[in-house]
Amino acid sequence: MLKGRNLIKPNDLTVSEIDEICGLAEQIIVDPNSFSDVCRGKILATLFFEPSTRTRLSFEAAMLHLGGAVEGFSDAANSSTAKGESLSDTIRTVSSYVDVIAMRNPKEGAALVASQYSNCPIINAGDGGHYHPTQTLTDMLTIRALQGGFEGHTIGFCGDLKFGRTVHSLAEAMSRYKNNRYIFISPNELQVPEYVTQELDEAGIEYTTAERLESVIGDLDILYMTRVQKERFFNEQDYIRLKDSYILDNQKMSLARKNMIVLHPLPRVNEIAPEVDNDPRAAYFKQVKYGMYVRMALIAKLVGVL
Ligand code: CP
Repeated sequence: MLKGRNLIKPNDLTVSEIDEICGLAEQIIVDPNSFSDVCRGKILATLFFEPSTRTRLSFEAAMLHLGGAVEGFSDAANSSTAKGESLSDTIRTVSSYVDVIAMRNPKEGAALVASQYSNCPIINAGDGGHYHPTQTLTDMLTIRALQGGFEGHTIGFCGDLKFGRTVHSLAEAMSRYKNNRYIFISPNELQVPEYVTQELDEAGIEYTTAERLESVIGDLDILYMTRVQKERFFNEQDYIRLKDSYILDNQKMSLARKNMIVLHPLPRVNEIAPEVDNDPRAAYFKQVKYGMYVRMALIAKLVGVL
């Protein structure tokens, strides 16, 4: 039963609930008109204390496509946070107006705190470098659609694996399925955090690390590219030194399997050359569309209309 629940981290959902949400998203893709009124009278609030294009706008598009309404802010400077209001007071207030809240906040743990003060479901739309569970659902629906399911994949995570919350979230979520293997491709300074590898050890997931993308790209079913997260660096010199560590181009793609797919949560900076966009294996713009459909399914489930 998903009605009334919060979604703070990917594994708040069971494997069967992920199937239920992905299955509903697939039904919506096939016949969107049948779902165009199911959230009539419901309101989604998008509270974004950090910049976003895809997550905020896809949440809002999702609710509008379900026949519901949206309100919120895309910059905390335009909210009473700028006057010193606490997160708990903001959430107590907004949750008395709406049926579901999607919130992005730069502080790790902010979504969990929000859920403790809310009268309606809180969806974590990203909390600092921690989790981004609806990006994970987006990634999983894309993998299910393009690679046929969640088992038996060799997944290469490439780029900023230290600060990349989408990597932490997807690695955790996919660790519950059989026969997946991970290759973490990053500079030494941007390796995946120990709390993530500890979870993988506990789940019995096989993983290796690599510094050169060229040396492992031929082994991959899924290449998950990420940008170096400028906003999480303390020192600009370190960012400048590391920002172009990986640039996927057609030459590197020529070393990859014919059925590999390239995912990226976006935004992209330099890490995928635009020439790769025309490669049929480039799936990152399909991924953004799947993101809207999976958010439609999630909203409908959490507000309890389906
Ligand atoms: N993938 C993602 O979170 O993109 P935005 O930062 O644009 O929302």
